[in-house]
Amino acid sequence: MSFMEKKLKDKMFKLALTAQKNAYVPYSKFPLGAAVLTEDGSIYTGVNIENAAFGLTNCAERSAIFTAVSAGKQKIEALVLVSSTEHPITPCGSCRQVIKEFADQEIEIVMMTESGQELTMTSTELLPGAFTDDSMEKTREQIDEL
Ligand code: THU
Repeated sequence: MSFMEKKLKDKMFKLALTAQKNAYVPYSKFPLGAAVLTEDGSIYTGVNIENAAFGLTNCAERSAIFTAVSAGKQKIEALVLVSSTEHPITPCGSCRQVIKEFADQEIEIVMMTESGQELTMTSTELLPGAFTDDSMEKTREQIDEL
């Protein structure tokens, strides 16, 4: 994993910040914007989209990743998350699992605030010991050995 260049990070920050304005957050009033970089250098954005049935809410990170996957890009190389909070916020557990699904290797997740604070963590730091497709393969092998 290589550290994201400042120019790319700034670009992703601006795209996530622009997208954040489209967050649909009538209930939480907590808008978030995300941008994901895919293997071919494309960037896809996403926002949180809430619902009166609260459990149906889709997070900004997952919106961005699902948009990338819908465009045929299944490998993400970096993710930037933008919040309007004082300190950066970290992805929820569901988003960490979805990041793992589409991040082949270790990737950087950069959590930024509108005012310029930032925190960077890797996908494994966010979800150590994740359940992945490899886990199922191992289980099958173990079962076959019985
Ligand atoms: N939210 C995200 O979009 N991403 C996260 O990782 C954490 C939470 C959204 C869901 C909801 O719209 C609002 O933030 C408050 O939970």
